[in-house]
Amino acid sequence: FLPKKKKQRDCLINLKIQKENPKVVNEIDIEDLRSTNVCYCRCWRSKTFPVCDKSHIKHNELTGDNVGPLILKKKIL
Ligand code: FES
Repeated sequence: FLPKKKKQRDCLINLKIQKENPKVVNEIDIEDLRSTNVCYCRCWRSKTFPVCDKSHIKHNELTGDNVGPLILKKKIL
């Protein structure tokens, strides 16, 4: 039996991004997107967070997880 706090610590998703902040929030103005496709990290392992750097591939290999980025696509009108 593990104390409740220990169990919750073992379930951390964010291991090192902006740990000085009580909550990590990223705001992206869609109008500012420069390229037609932008990938945002959802695995919390990217060294360029919040932008995906493909670290999810290694994370998935090591853990058996299946996470991937959020891809925003901008239509060219
Ligand atoms: Fe996190 Fe790609 S690096 S989703």
